[in-house]
Amino acid sequence: MFAFTTLLSLAATAPLLKAAQAFPNLPTPLVPPSFPLSWVGVAIGTQNYTCSSTSTYTNVGALAELFDISCLAGTFLFESIQDTAIAAWEAAPPSLSISEVISQLHATSNPIILGQHYYVTNPITGTGINPKWDFTSQGIDAGKPDAFVVAAKVNDGLAPTGSKDIDWVQLGNIQGSLAKQVYRTDTRLGQPPASCAPGSPEIVVKYAAKYCTGFWSLGLRDLKSSKRSSQCTDIHIIVLLMFAFSTLLSLAATVPLLSVSGLAVKRSPDVCSLSKASQSLPNMPTPLVAPSSPLSWVGVAIGTQNYTCGSTGTYTNVGALAELFDISCLAGTFFFESIQDIAIAAWEAAPPSLPASEVISKLHGTSTPVILGQHYYVTNPITGTGINPKWDFTSQGADAGKPDAFVVAAKVNDGLAPTGSKDIDWVQLGNIQGSLAKQVYRTDTRLGQPPSSCTPGSPEIVVKYAAKYWGFGASV
Ligand SMILES: *[C@@H]1O[C@H](CO)[C@@H](O)[C@H](O)[C@H]1NC(C)=O
Ligand SMILES: *[C@@H]1O[C@H](CO)[C@@H](O)[C@H](O)[C@H]1NC(C)=O
Repeated sequence: MFAFTTLLSLAATAPLLKAAQAFPNLPTPLVPPSFPLSWVGVAIGTQNYTCSSTSTYTNVGALAELFDISCLAGTFLFESIQDTAIAAWEAAPPSLSISEVISQLHATSNPIILGQHYYVTNPITGTGINPKWDFTSQGIDAGKPDAFVVAAKVNDGLAPTGSKDIDWVQLGNIQGSLAKQVYRTDTRLGQPPASCAPGSPEIVVKYAAKYCTGFWSLGLRDLKSSKRSSQCTDIHIIVLLMFAFSTLLSLAATVPLLSVSGLAVKRSPDVCSLSKASQSLPNMPTPLVAPSSPLSWVGVAIGTQNYTCGSTGTYTNVGALAELFDISCLAGTFFFESIQDIAIAAWEAAPPSLPASEVISKLHGTSTPVILGQHYYVTNPITGTGINPKWDFTSQGADAGKPDAFVVAAKVNDGLAPTGSKDIDWVQLGNIQGSLAKQVYRTDTRLGQPPSSCTPGSPEIVVKYAAKYWGFGASV
């Protein structure tokens, strides 16, 4: 979603040129590419290691899935996508192997898949193994027999980010038309343990990295008409947006979320079951009481909590502003559980110059189907004094145009966040106006707490937070 603010302006530009400008400084002794950039992807996968007789691990292969990130070029998300990718990949259940991810993705027509990376017997000498990037079976190059490259290492250099991340690598083509040069950069994790017991079985270690190339020789005409050069369509952007939100692996689990039809449908029992989501309602901290009405919607929010400094030198909460994204399609996946971690990580990574109001206003001009609506405070509509939180779905998404698609609520109970004092309270609220919910809950909060003290008279501050919001008993 954050990518969205800048992505929109990119739709008509040449993403590969932008991506090429974002090519990172290379560690010694890697030499920069001498051909134009042809594709750039972020990969998640595993590195394979066997234990040698000297009790150290030796790399014996890898398997990874590559996702096109050229449409992110020029945005801050392009820089940090490997962090998002590794966070998502690390959060995946250990039982979900990369080969399973690949095979599940294979059954979908996801527009951001570039292809796969794995090792093959050296096709020239017939001995030893070499890395291959294979785009022949998916994406825009599907069916083109030459859309692969087998390469050999030219140089490797230590990851600038430290010893836990595998080397950056420069490789040269030995076969195939997909690239003359390939680079692995921006590596995250992938290193084996420091020692092992000889004879112990092969291990696989999760990693993420960017891969990019020089020179795609399948035909410049193709390039021009491909998403890799000139098209960042809404669907690419939305899928990338969701990727940014780290639904990467939920691709496998929740295909509807990322299918075009799925994107067009919200809060639909046919596509994304709310009953699944309601089974995922977390245990409530004392003294919150469980809801008594059926679940109507569930969203993850990013936004800010507003605080003013009181005369006693402590901050008082005086409002909030947040954007809510429908997560009902994630229900039943591990992503549903961790989406607030991903959201806060992305939101924290956003430039400080990007306030919540700007995120909201930029998103407002779009028809992003995962938007539920906004959360903010209004003067109490019954008493006319004080302010109360409101959830407003009237202007976007499935409820746009329905005047009653809002709820103003009052706090019934709040309880300490089970995750600790850095996270704002979980809250149970009751309807005082509107048809969007009889009850609202804020759960799974992340951050949002103000500093512990302040100087009386200092200006209002805003603090970033993320949370899940749940609405029960809607009649709209
Ligand atoms: C690496 O491990 C994966 C399983 O994660 C396996 O599919 C692949 O064949 C292995 N490759 C090599 C070269 O060992
Ligand atoms: C909270 O701060 C935001 C700016 O981030 C502002 O738009 C909003 O009006 C503020 N709300 C209240 C109730 O203070």
